[in-house]
Amino acid sequence: MNEHLLNQLNGEQLANPQISKLVTFLMEQWAREKDHEIKQQLLRSTVLRYADAESRLAEMNRIKNRFIGLVAHDLRNPLVSIRGLSELLLNDRSDPLSSQQRDFLTTIYSASNSMITLVNDILDMAVMEDGRLKLQVRKDSLSRLIRERVKVNTILARRKRIALDHHLSRIPNFPFDRNRISQVLDNLIGNAIKYSSDRSRISVSLSRRNGTAVVSVSDEGMGIASEDQAKLFSGLPGISNEPTGGEKSTGMGLTIARKIIEEHRGALSVESEVGFGSTFSFTLPLEVRQCRAT
Ligand SMILES: Nc1ncnc2c1ncn2[C@@H]1O[C@H](COP(=O)(O)OP(=O)(O)OP(=O)(O)O)[C@@H](O)[C@H]1O
Ligand SMILES: [Mg+2]
Repeated sequence: MNEHLLNQLNGEQLANPQISKLVTFLMEQWAREKDHEIKQQLLRSTVLRYADAESRLAEMNRIKNRFIGLVAHDLRNPLVSIRGLSELLLNDRSDPLSSQQRDFLTTIYSASNSMITLVNDILDMAVMEDGRLKLQVRKDSLSRLIRERVKVNTILARRKRIALDHHLSRIPNFPFDRNRISQVLDNLIGNAIKYSSDRSRISVSLSRRNGTAVVSVSDEGMGIASEDQAKLFSGLPGISNEPTGGEKSTGMGLTIARKIIEEHRGALSVESEVGFGSTFSFTLPLEVRQCRAT
């Protein structure tokens, strides 16, 4: 339109300073509009390409998770058989084993046990990344569950002469997924044992605060550097702490634990100082309607 207007003006009109000023203004305006239009087109095509790449990436991620889940699942069954059969042979009193056979079987048993733990972690990660974690929520006693997990983990703590105690306030039964919370407790208590030195203390506490149950696991272990604390729940490698008794470490436990707690609409956090120990705490809402599970 501006071009059309310009063509209609003769030399005399263009020599008029006021008309010339107006023409310059209109030309600049026109150039700005064109520029804006080109930028908008570019933006539109970039957004479309980005959305397409994102949906292809999400699809590839789903395929990867399905594949990992399938492989881990198919590995699990033979591993469970190997562990079960080696345990059976180790406990078979009717056919005594030579010390070498016992050694070999013990190695088979503990290697298959570690592999099952790893495969379970991989399966959990695949399920959670896909957003398929389904909680089995039932009204239950959290203090009873804590007492049970402390008792089971005492066997591990004793090997390092670690004192494992608990301080549990009375709270009413409330709905949560017993197996999943048991998994979280085992990881937090297990970590406290794994990353603490001999003859230290670990304490597990339960209290009630603002409509939530609060569970804390405190140790006097090596502590976690502040730059490492951000990586704890990412499942990525890079944390320098090593178990003090040569225990196994796959580095996925806390990532899975946080997802389980968040699925209950709670929160898992850490406070730690290098050389003084760590406290991992999680909250669980006491009200059923706050929970995401069906
Ligand atoms: N109580 C703790 N004290 C010191 N470091 C800890 C403690 N808990 C966890 N960490 C550090 O955080 C890392 C991640 O813990 P996480 O439980 O996810 O993995 P893991 O215990 O190594 O392996 P697993 O998958 O078997 O649980 C550990 O490898 C360790 O470096
Ligand atoms: Mg762990």
